[in-house]
Amino acid sequence: MGLTQTYILAIESSCDDTSAAILCNGKILSNVVANQKIHEEYGGVVPELASRAHQQNIVPVVHQALVRANIDKKQLSAIAFTRGPGLMGSLLVGTSFAKSLAVGLNIPLIEVNHMQAHILAHFIEEENYSKPSFPFLAMTISGGHTQIVRVDDYFQMTVLGETLDDAVGEAFDKSAKILGLPYPGGPLIDKYAKEGNPKAYLFTKPRVNGLNFSFSGLKTGILYFIQKKVKEDPDFIKNNLNDICASIQYTIVQILMDKIKKAVKETGIKQIAIGGGVSANSGIRNALKETEKKYGWSTYIPKFEYCTDNAAMIAIVGYLKYLEGNFTNETINVKARYSI
Ligand code: KG4
Ligand code: ZN
Repeated sequence: MGLTQTYILAIESSCDDTSAAILCNGKILSNVVANQKIHEEYGGVVPELASRAHQQNIVPVVHQALVRANIDKKQLSAIAFTRGPGLMGSLLVGTSFAKSLAVGLNIPLIEVNHMQAHILAHFIEEENYSKPSFPFLAMTISGGHTQIVRVDDYFQMTVLGETLDDAVGEAFDKSAKILGLPYPGGPLIDKYAKEGNPKAYLFTKPRVNGLNFSFSGLKTGILYFIQKKVKEDPDFIKNNLNDICASIQYTIVQILMDKIKKAVKETGIKQIAIGGGVSANSGIRNALKETEKKYGWSTYIPKFEYCTDNAAMIAIVGYLKYLEGNFTNETINVKARYSI
């Protein structure tokens, strides 16, 4: 008898990316993401525009996912969708679509927590990527989240710390905005930082108890610093962009590393798995790599397309729940606030 093929269609629509993926027994066959360019001119995600764009994108994105995976919807075993956390209007589009399709095809429906999915993305079968073993510490860093989570099993997670205000990606993006860079500015800060001196300017790190984070004070500190300098020299930003970016990035990376080191000290766990769009940052990548030699940590970063918001990570959670027979039904509601 051959191996059973389980095909999961997953749908993600929690923020400003519409995504659909097909997974077969732990392997991704397709992962289609439609980004919403519309928010760029506003310097941040506009919820009303996001749900409208999801509404337009969802049918073609799901269709593309099936086409690229080369399977027919009749072959699907189950449908997984992001129930929360996220923007209400955005979540409703993906959830309603998933429910209708599951009812139409008469197959199981599986609800997924987006934050768990960022963490379980590490369990997608992918060549040249190894998986963390339990227990490990996960740090999810993106434009919407900043969390440190202790992971004892697939669905046994404890939030050890999280941001009390802005997410770390927002700290990058808002700093970039102060410098006049386009949204999202995180990747640009990273790019200019590579040519600059990280110790050129000193920014005050916030004092936050425990393993929680705060980034709003840093942003204000940067704003006042820049305003003062520009008053003295109108070309200050232009003439020192690399050094400013390197110093901002250095401070943010230090804030993240201080907390993760504290978490390792408190738990004794030396396996660190990161996810979220900010995992692309070269500063955090280098700092993590260094800990492998210096402290004997093992660090894990998934393939970049599984770091940013995507449906592949929803699909792997869907598959893990499918194996447990953990299904929901069409009466389920979205949860804009949904803790791990
Ligand atoms: O995971 P993601 O695509 O979407 C959210 O759920 O937010 O993360 C996007 C965030 C943005 O804030 C973006 O500026 C940041 O990740 N980002 C970076 C880099 N690449 C993306 N921040 C710093 N350095 C990067 N290389
Ligand atoms: Zn996310």
